[in-house]
Parts: sequence; structure tokens; C-alpha cells
Amino acid sequence: EKVILAFSGGLDTSVCVKLLEEKYDAEVITACVDVGQPEEDIKRAETVAKKIGNSKHVTIDAKEEFADDYISKGIKANALYEGYPLSTSLARPLIAMKIIELAKKENATAIAHGCTGKGNDQFRFEGVIRAMSDLNIIAPIRDLNLTRSEEQAYAKEKGIPISPDSAFSIDENIWGRSIEGDLLENPINAPIEEAYEWTKSIADAKDDEEIIAVEFESGIPIAINGEKKKLIDLISVANKVAGEHGIGRIDIIEDRIVGLKSREIYEVPGATLLIAAHKGLEQLVLSKSELQFLESVSPVYADLVYSALWQDPLKEDLDVLIDNMQRRVTGKVNLKVFKGRAAVITRESKYSLHDIEQISFEDKTHDQKEIEGMIKHHGLQAAIYQKVIKK
Ligand code: ARG
Ligand code: SIN
Repeated sequence: EKVILAFSGGLDTSVCVKLLEEKYDAEVITACVDVGQPEEDIKRAETVAKKIGNSKHVTIDAKEEFADDYISKGIKANALYEGYPLSTSLARPLIAMKIIELAKKENATAIAHGCTGKGNDQFRFEGVIRAMSDLNIIAPIRDLNLTRSEEQAYAKEKGIPISPDSAFSIDENIWGRSIEGDLLENPINAPIEEAYEWTKSIADAKDDEEIIAVEFESGIPIAINGEKKKLIDLISVANKVAGEHGIGRIDIIEDRIVGLKSREIYEVPGATLLIAAHKGLEQLVLSKSELQFLESVSPVYADLVYSALWQDPLKEDLDVLIDNMQRRVTGKVNLKVFKGRAAVITRESKYSLHDIEQISFEDKTHDQKEIEGMIKHHGLQAAIYQKVIKK
């Protein structure tokens, strides 16, 4: 059967090519979906595919679509899971969609992936493939219950090139970088500086503070430091400046879908900066009830995305709600970035609900005496309660 393998050129997916040919009698097309991983990784996937000698390798550029249709949703929803901005989980549904498209074009009957049976990514790929196609799914690593060292031995035996670079399992896209495995697996070990690539440590971060201006239109960043940019390019700039200042390093114990706790390191400098800016602007333009409502909606949204439920109707319902609220999240925010912190220092918007005239202590139009009656009634039940219990 003809199979499209979601291919990164890493150990898991490289081993999958040969396993699919040998144990599943498959004709393999490898496909690498570019969501902003380093260019060397995209090139390496090509080279490795060539060396392994599968029938065909395809690179699919999905960077702009990732920014415009997926990251944008993460920003509008301030999507954090257990405190970190979602990145891998935003990219997986798009990668799956692109692979489905390719499978249809190539008349393939199955999609394969290299996920282990312990992680989240298997849920995300397969959730989309099941919801959006009738294609078969093959997961060789999980199916054959292979460990990492067994994979390494198999790769050696079959002459499959394995990249010498990292002992960690790294997943990277334009919105974030996740690092797990090896010594990080044990929470007793502190992360080593070598695990980080996008961010400076606080000690090495710039000694001078910087002001970053971010402009939003309907919840989406459209300009940084006065320069209008496509979202994808704006995110690159944000990653660079925030990374220089040591912003967006996260070290957490995460609860995976399968119930396992996992130690994860994230580098999300741009995401941290842009979400801070976005929240700062929301404070100005959304009502108290909207903001309180978002406090509970945002984690629900993030949980759906994290948990591989991109196609759930509730996710679509929330998109409609959030988009409607975000129509007024238009304006400009300045942030001060310094030694790991991004603090919002100014906010402006034509939709501001902040009334500078009325809040002023010099204002006379607002008769202060009027508030007296409101206060009497405001604490009414509390006052009655205190009398009642004393009887
Ligand atoms: N734990 C993160 C998530 O579930 C990152 C997963 C990274 N995947 C990987 N294959 N290294 O979103
Ligand atoms: C994997 O186990 O395949 C990677 C980690 C994850 O999916 O969370």
C-alpha cells in the first residue's frame, strides 16, 4: 500500500521509513511540513530521505498558513496550557491537514507517523486524520513498542543516518521550541544551558532595557516597533528581541493527555511578549464581564487544543465567540523588556473603555454625591447578614 509518512528526519521517523517498507510492505512517500522549524532541519529531512532511499520526498511550506490560521487563534485566545503558550499542539492539526491533502493527491491509502505511545502528538495527528479523512493510520514505533535504544540499534543495522546533534527530543516551529527527554526527563536535574537556543539566560541577557511597540488589529499583531509586518515575520522579530532579553524560558512538569507527568522545557520568547501585549490591550477595551469570562474561557480553549480536540464543535463555537470579542482589540501597546520580563507600560485604542475625563479627580461633570445611594445598597446584604448572625 502507498503510505505518506509525516517525516522530520529525526530518529523516530527515519526508522519508520524502513519499518514501513519491511514490516508493512509499504511504498513510502516522506513528507516534511514546514511550520518554521530551522532550515537545516528541512534540508536534513531531504538529505536523510534521499539516503534512506524511499520512493519520494515532499516538502510542504505551510509557514504562513500556520501563522495566519493557527497561531493567530492562539494569540486571540491567549492560549496557555499549564502556564505555557501552546506551540506544538497548534502546529499538529495543520501538519495533519497537509499530509491528508498530499495523501489524496498521491492516491495513498494510509498515513504513518513516528509518535511513541506515550505522548500527545499521536492523539493530535490521529484526531485530525480520523475526523477529516478515511485514511488508514500506521504508527510503527507504537505498534512495535520500540524504545529509543532499540530504534538506535535498528537504525545502525539498516544504515539509517542518525543526526549526531542532540540527545533531547526537540520540537520546533515558528511559535515555540520544546525540549524534552534525556537528562531533563528526571525532574531532579536542572536544565543545562545547552538545551536553550532561542533565549539568553537572565545573566547573559542585555543589560539595557528596551521599549517594544506592538500594534494590534482585531486581536492580531500587525506591526512591531512601527513597522507593519506579516504575522509570520512579526513573530520572528518578536522572538529575536524577546529572546535577547531572556524572556520566555519555561521549565514545567506537564500533565500529558495519557495521564503521565512529563518534565518539559519551552522557549517561547515571541509568544510570551505578544500574549502579554495582547492581554494588556484587552484590559483597556473589553468590559469587566468580558475579561472575567475570558479568564475561564481561555483555559478551556487551550485545553481543547492541547488535548487534540481541534475538530471539537466547542472549539469552533469558542472561535466564533472569541472572534466577535476581538473585533475591538485594536490599538497599540508599549512594553518594557528587561532581564526576562515583558511589562506593558502604555496602552491606546479607539475602542478604549477607559474614560480619562470621568476618572480624573478634577472632573466636575460627575457629581460625587450621586454615588452615596449606590454605596448604601451595594453592601446591603452584607450589613443585614452581620445583624442577623449577632441575634
Ligand atoms: N509536550 C509538548 C506538547 O505536547 C511538546 C511535545 C513535543 N513533541 C515532540 N515530539 N518532542 O505540546
Ligand atoms: C512522542 O512521544 O511521540 C513525542 C512527545 C509527545 O507527543 O508529547
